[in-house]
Formats: sequence, structure tokens, C-alpha cells
Amino acid sequence: MTMTTSDRSAGSDSDTPHFEPSRVLRLVARATVAYRHVFAASRAAPWLSRPKPVRNWGFDRDLIVAEVRTEAADVVSLKVVSPDGRDLPSWIPGAHLDLILPSGKQRQYSLCGDPDDLSSYRIAVRRIDTGLGGSIEVHDSLRAGTSITVRGPRNAFPLVAADSYLFVAGGIGITPILPMLKRCHDRELPWRLVYLGRSRATMPFLDDLARYSRGQVEIRPDDELGPPDIAGIVATASPGAAVYMCGPTPLMTTARRVMREIDPTGSLHTERFSPLPVADGREFEIHLARRGTTVSVGPDETALAAIRREVPGVAYSCQQGFCGTCRVRVLAGEVDHRDRILTHNEKEDSMLICLSRSAGGSLVVDL
Ligand code: FES
Repeated sequence: MTMTTSDRSAGSDSDTPHFEPSRVLRLVARATVAYRHVFAASRAAPWLSRPKPVRNWGFDRDLIVAEVRTEAADVVSLKVVSPDGRDLPSWIPGAHLDLILPSGKQRQYSLCGDPDDLSSYRIAVRRIDTGLGGSIEVHDSLRAGTSITVRGPRNAFPLVAADSYLFVAGGIGITPILPMLKRCHDRELPWRLVYLGRSRATMPFLDDLARYSRGQVEIRPDDELGPPDIAGIVATASPGAAVYMCGPTPLMTTARRVMREIDPTGSLHTERFSPLPVADGREFEIHLARRGTTVSVGPDETALAAIRREVPGVAYSCQQGFCGTCRVRVLAGEVDHRDRILTHNEKEDSMLICLSRSAGGSLVVDL
């Protein structure tokens, strides 16, 4: 288990093994103390040092929950509106919102309403009692009239042009798919949906799907039809079709594998909101210059996850290196950049903490 420096210092001196810092580490420590004095703690700090702006893809906005509806067992939808009643920024199918919950937790949810109706946004949340508490907070504390901060919309799951579409949704994974169906329907594009779930009672938005023809929508609850044959479902996609899939990780992993076997040139589009697993991770330390603390990053976790233990409100969104929200300025150390969006110049002095790591030794960042 990894710990922050402040956790470690809770031990008594007699428990602490003798440690002689290297010359480089002493220089880094002196530099960060000097940085803190001048750029973070002095009266001139607000003028000398401003946080590095991140990409301007969506920004924080305070909205009001207008309606909370039960959509299925353990699933509620939330309709949020602007407090002044004005239209909200436009979005396209596949977009998601970051919700900044009253506790400070941030969670991403797909927009599942009508992209042509900007009077409100709709999201849906399944309660996961064994999760990290975000969905429980949504279910237990958000009510009509509650103020909520959102960031976005952003889109990492856009609807590409294709001859036809096969949509496969598992449970709450129907949310990003719903606006895509409407868009395809309005444009008279050929499409079909296979909607999977444990039982009809657990599958949200069955009413929304009733408007489409039976030939287009196949509802497949496990308790009626048994476990789904993912390879068989993927194989029904016409040549040239784009296959969109959203649901539990095993569903998408299987689809990726069978898609390679069935149609190696096919186009499979999946969405995930969880961080990508860390590959070839080594433990390292990040010093947070403004706070004067050091965070230890374990081999299997991201720098973002480790920093969030010390700074729960640190900005992030996609956790997959495409939105740029988690970009921070690097003051010292060599970065192993694992993203594909920062330019060469941007990599000179910043990093995306949701993916990138140390290339060796400690890092010092402007947090
Ligand atoms: S959170 Fe989106 S790039 Fe890091």
C-alpha cells in the first residue's frame, strides 16, 4: 500500500530508518523551498505564479437539479438546468459531464437526453454500494433544487460516419447510446441496438426505446434469454458497420477480442470512465511544491490517484489522457510522457498526471 509523506511522518523518530538524501535530492528540496517562499507564500505570489491554464474544453458551471427520476432498480436520472433558465451549451451524442459532488468527489456521466433540447441536461447514475461512494452520494443527497457544479460537456466517444451502426449496450451503458440512436433515427441512417441486462427491472430507459421499431431494438435480459453470446451479436454487424459498445468491462473486453477474430478491419468504439490500467509502472515520488508535501505513487496506480489522496479537489476528467484537464506544470524531474495530446513544447514544462509518470527519480510539480 502506498502512503503520503504526511502519513509516514506520523510514525515516531525511533521507528524511522536513517536516510541520507543524495546531493540531487537536497538541491531539489532547496529549490522547492525557495519556490514555495517566493511563488506560493510571498505577498507577490498571486502575481508571480498562476496555475497553468488547461485546455479550454468545457468549464465549471453551477447548475440546479430540476428533477430526479427512478429509471430502474438502483438507477436514477437527473435533469439539471441553468439557474437563470437559459439554454445550456450544445453537445453531440457520446458527450459526458463531470459532476463535482458536494463532497468534492468528481464523477463522469454520459449525457443521455436529447441533444436538440438545450433547456436541460440529463444523466443517469446506477447506485454501486461497493464503489467509492460517488453514486451513493448522487442517490442519497441530490434532490430537486440542489445546486451542483458540472464541467463540460466533453466528448471522447463521438459518432463516426459509417454505412450502418450496431449498438450494443449493457445496463447503464445504454446512456451514451440513447442520443446516438436519436441522431441516427433523425437522419434515417441504418442502425440496430442490442440491449443487454440482468433483467428488465434493472434496465433503464426501456420506455425511451419503445418509440423505435422492434426490428431495430432487441432487448436481451439474461433472466429471460440466458447469458448473451457476444461473438454472435458482434457477427451480426454488416460489413462496414461501426460497432458501438458501452457496458461492463468484461463485455467490452470480449467484444474487442471477437471483433479482431471476426472482422479485423471493423470499427469498434467503446467507452470507459475508469482509468486505464498502469503498464510497466515503477514506484516514484512527486513533491507538491505549493503544499510542501511529497506523495508516493505506487507501481500500479496513477500519479493522479496518488495526488488525489493529498489534494482531493485536483482537476481531472477523462483519466485517459485525452482531455488535458489534469495537466500540471513540472518544476523539476524527468517525465515519462505517456499521452498523445501534449505538444513537444508543452511536454517541456508540464505533464498529464492521469497517465504520465517519472522517467526515473522524483518529480516536483506546481500543486
Ligand atoms: S484527466 Fe483527461 S487528460 Fe488527464
